[in-house]
Amino acid sequence: MATLPVADWQPPPLHPLPHPVATRQGVELYTLRLDLVHPHLQGNKWYKLRPNLAAAEAQGHRTLLTFGGAFSNHLYSTAAAGSLLGWRTVGLVRGEPTQPLNPVLTFAQACGMELHYLSRGQYRHKTEPGFLAEIAQTYGPAYLLPEGGSNALAVTGCAQMLAELPPELSFDYYACALGTGCTLAGLLLAVAARRQAKAQVLGFPVLKGGGFLAAETTRLLAEHAQVRGFPTPPLPAWQLLVNYHFGGYAKVPPALAQWVTEFNHWAVAHGPAPACVLEPVYTGKLFYGVLDLIGEGGIAPGSRVLVLHTGGVYANASVQY
Ligand SMILES: Cc1ncc(COP(=O)(O)O)c(C=O)c1O
Repeated sequence: MATLPVADWQPPPLHPLPHPVATRQGVELYTLRLDLVHPHLQGNKWYKLRPNLAAAEAQGHRTLLTFGGAFSNHLYSTAAAGSLLGWRTVGLVRGEPTQPLNPVLTFAQACGMELHYLSRGQYRHKTEPGFLAEIAQTYGPAYLLPEGGSNALAVTGCAQMLAELPPELSFDYYACALGTGCTLAGLLLAVAARRQAKAQVLGFPVLKGGGFLAAETTRLLAEHAQVRGFPTPPLPAWQLLVNYHFGGYAKVPPALAQWVTEFNHWAVAHGPAPACVLEPVYTGKLFYGVLDLIGEGGIAPGSRVLVLHTGGVYANASVQY
């Protein structure tokens, strides 16, 4: 395994989240604080990157090249990984350069990431072999991470997200946010490994029309099975709740902004420490959705619900809300 800074790694704490909505409905709500596993390389990104870094090292690479939007948590985390390992990182950013750099790109650059910009037209070709060959010519040999860091190895990494939970702990529901479906694919494998036949997994797409992510999740699971060389095990029941996108990816209408602000005030004043602070792009929509479902009586009293805090809170410095 690539010599990631494991000295600074800590297992994700499990925190009860006695939010008034859950308490009123008699639902036991918990959050797994993946955001706390490492100071700079946290959330689902730690899990996605770890096996990829090991593969890069095994293939003799010391350069990571990847893609993302200007507010990408993945660019941020890849830059952090490069800096921690002493590897070169190249970030190909969608869209025109803007000055001053936003906090995500400022951090990436401070980590030593070389930032280059692709027009939206060019960016659309980012998975095509011809385009990738040109990229390799331009930037030299590199281990290629797809947008969002989502590939079969990342699914393997995300399947470890529950590994530190005592095996006897069980939940009726597990919930996570979806951008590409990779984290959900890993969570499904993680829940399957815990053999809790009645557990259900709920996925909350943060983009509009997120129903297509069911097929994406299934595709990533199949790719993972192929790479690992054994079939996907029987999975728990799962569904996507597609109505919590608030208008689309990174859209933050006033109602969501206000809800996240109020939740964060509650978390600081009444929640466990360190405070379970959310951002509005991923975790805000997820926690809103889970609490809305609970408030509407969609989850039976007495149920135990585990919500994954997948990190990205540094986005609060970039996203206006
Ligand atoms: C903080 C955060 N949570 C959840 C997700 C969703 O992950 P995935 O793209 O694997 O669906 C992302 C995006 O990668 C993210 O940055």
